[in-house]
Amino acid sequence: FQKDQNFFQKYYKYYVSGAGYTLFLAVIGVVFGAIVGGILALMKLGKVRVVRWIATAYIEYVRGTPLLVQIFIVYFGSGIIGIELSKVAAGCIALALNSGAYVAEIIRAGINAVNKGQMEAARSLGMNQRQAMQFIIFPQAIKNILPALGNEFVTVIKESSIVSVIGVSELIFQAGNVQGASFKPFLPYLIVSLIYFVMTFTLSRLLGVAERRMNTDA
Ligand code: ARG
Repeated sequence: FQKDQNFFQKYYKYYVSGAGYTLFLAVIGVVFGAIVGGILALMKLGKVRVVRWIATAYIEYVRGTPLLVQIFIVYFGSGIIGIELSKVAAGCIALALNSGAYVAEIIRAGINAVNKGQMEAARSLGMNQRQAMQFIIFPQAIKNILPALGNEFVTVIKESSIVSVIGVSELIFQAGNVQGASFKPFLPYLIVSLIYFVMTFTLSRLLGVAERRMNTDA
């Protein structure tokens, strides 16, 4: 045990810094992912066929290819078109672009889940399509969308681990560093798993509380 205590004293800094990067990647990824997703959802709801097609193609492509490959494409691809991206920036962009496709589906599903009669009722009261969407459908859809966005945040915290492949020193990368420095193969990853768990568990508890609050004043 004495030796283990020594271990934490020696290496805790790696974990602190790694956790910082992980949270940063996840927050940026999910915030910009929500923006990308919102834009994609609007494109899909719109009337222009080409625009709808582009949004659909993007969503299907991103959801149908591994995040691992997307990270490589953003990181190395940006270099080829002459944009010098840092590893962290490339990681954030890849996560946001990836998450956006999932968020677009969350928004679509949230809107679809609102009873069809709501639109019909709004239209029969004289609202046009846009007003009905804005004042009747969307306020109800948001109750489906926000909890799912919270889950997306949890997902992105975990998925950010893949960004370690381009050398961003988030938790998984740091676990590798600790492994190399300590010659212990197992303990560094066990610790990292616990840190992830604390993050995701705390977050999902907080989301649960927020969700219950939202439902009481419904
Ligand atoms: N693990 C999946 C992949 O490699 C990525 C899933 C991302 N999911 C999400 N909700 N952003 O493709």
